Amino acid sequence: MDVRNILNNKLEQAFQALFLNSFQKVSVRPSARHNFGDYQVNSIMGVAKQNGKTPVEMAAELANYIESRANDDGVIAKLEVVAPGFINIFLNPDWLANRLSAALADPRLGVERVAPQTIVVDYSSPNVAKEMHVGHLRSTIIGDASVRTLTFLGHKVIRANHLGDWGTQFGMLIAFLEQAESRDDISLSDLEGFYRAAKKRYDDDEAFARRARQYVVRLQQGDEWCRKMWRKLVEISMAQNQRNYDRLNVTLKPQHIMGESLYNDMLPGIVDDLLKRGIASESDGAVVVYLDDFRNKEGEPMGVIVRKSDGGYLYTTTDIACAKYRYEHFHADRMIYYIDARQHQHLMMAWEIVRKAGYVPESVSLEHHMFGMMLDKQGRPFKTREGGTVKLSELLDEAVVRARKLVAEKSPQLPEAELDSLAEIIGIGAVKYADLSKNRTTDYIFDWDSMLSFEGNTAPYIQYACARIASIFRRANLTVEQLEGEISLNTDRERMLAVRLLQFEETLQLVAREGTPHVMCAYLYDLAGLFSRFYTDCPILNSDSSALRVSRLKLVALTERTLKQGLETLGIQTVERM
Ligand code: ARG
Repeated sequence: MDVRNILNNKLEQAFQALFLNSFQKVSVRPSARHNFGDYQVNSIMGVAKQNGKTPVEMAAELANYIESRANDDGVIAKLEVVAPGFINIFLNPDWLANRLSAALADPRLGVERVAPQTIVVDYSSPNVAKEMHVGHLRSTIIGDASVRTLTFLGHKVIRANHLGDWGTQFGMLIAFLEQAESRDDISLSDLEGFYRAAKKRYDDDEAFARRARQYVVRLQQGDEWCRKMWRKLVEISMAQNQRNYDRLNVTLKPQHIMGESLYNDMLPGIVDDLLKRGIASESDGAVVVYLDDFRNKEGEPMGVIVRKSDGGYLYTTTDIACAKYRYEHFHADRMIYYIDARQHQHLMMAWEIVRKAGYVPESVSLEHHMFGMMLDKQGRPFKTREGGTVKLSELLDEAVVRARKLVAEKSPQLPEAELDSLAEIIGIGAVKYADLSKNRTTDYIFDWDSMLSFEGNTAPYIQYACARIASIFRRANLTVEQLEGEISLNTDRERMLAVRLLQFEETLQLVAREGTPHVMCAYLYDLAGLFSRFYTDCPILNSDSSALRVSRLKLVALTERTLKQGLETLGIQTVERM
């Protein structure tokens, strides 16, 4: 249930009846401060003049209308009009309590299913024969959080792992693999080393380079043996990546791979089509599309090459084909790409060509949900001490080692096996959460100490809140199902927790719309904080009456389930104790 939406509908109804047409610019939002009510309308000032009223007059008329004509469902307890024209909305505690009970009884926690759209999400997308590095981490975990959120709301989501599995480098890699197979000192288990060694050989050895170039041609012509070698490279790389996905609790599976090679056969047809329709033209043997919206320093339209003079196609050509395919093949309503901000111009150009050619209609949105870089504490790109790229698998190993030390200090009494599994969940969860909790559009600083802290907006803080609630139920020797009685909201602490609990759906909606999991993190952090304050001030197991005890147990049970479900949409697990 989306409370904000319910209130917005009431406001719209009042606008329709009283002022026609000016509603678009006004909306209800959660109040910033508790004493301003639970929700607030604070944008009436902008439309009062055109209606010939002062904002306060207008607010009063609206509030009056809502109170007398649009509150049959009893959602609102009180409306307050304050200068310079705000309406503060206080929700009815009985209605709130009722909705909380319904949420607790529902496996979906009262979150409604949306009218489903088909949404393609392009994420992770590492490159073959290269180890996945921390740069791919962001795409993988932000993308997966978005996928999980959209799926939970009821959308049909198509995961597309746009693997870098095509291009001229495969000639070199095949030639190198051919040699490696006859020697065992070169191993594909070290992909980064393999790629580097192949490249060095290519640069140093002319005969090798010649063979590599022949293999490029043979691969493109569909040569059986080259294909086999290529497939082997893809399989070995992806088996290694899959281990990272599983460990990260990311939902990508082998069947989600839709690599660049998939679009290869479409490329000649697309270039021909662009030429035939005059969208592209030939220039020095290459095929180029000139774009009005992108101008060079001289102010001339910028040219995007879609076929090189040697006949080769480019990353851009593939992305044109890929958008077209996703529309034609999946009938996507929406396509979201989780890619590094540095590729923004590339995508914008590819999509402008897509639109120009009408391959994807305007009604289907193409969205680049970009993100910044991962930096070290000094604000430099995140590297190993030797200056190399940090391998994802090593980063995760370190997270688990650090987490294990931490939990062993905190709970030395736990058995070894439990410490191990706790360390995995807490370590990996901390790395993921650190990334997810920052607004993705900016660079972010990777800092072990702050992400593993039990204070602040961290995964351990929220996991700890869940564990505390689990321990309350252990002490009470009860399960939620055994609780008989109603929820009642008596104190401010309870009310504030209740209102926030009912904002779960709004939060999901926002994350789904904008692909911003940090909004979910902020919500969970706030919820965990409200729980903690409630827990400090309101006795649960020692409360005055058994009715109050049941009510409070139910309230914290719903808090636990909401925190868990929220973390679940981020792909972060919880533990019973820590
Ligand atoms: N493989 C690319 C890289 O590592 C990312 C691909 C992103 N997706 C896309 N449709 N271009 O930079």
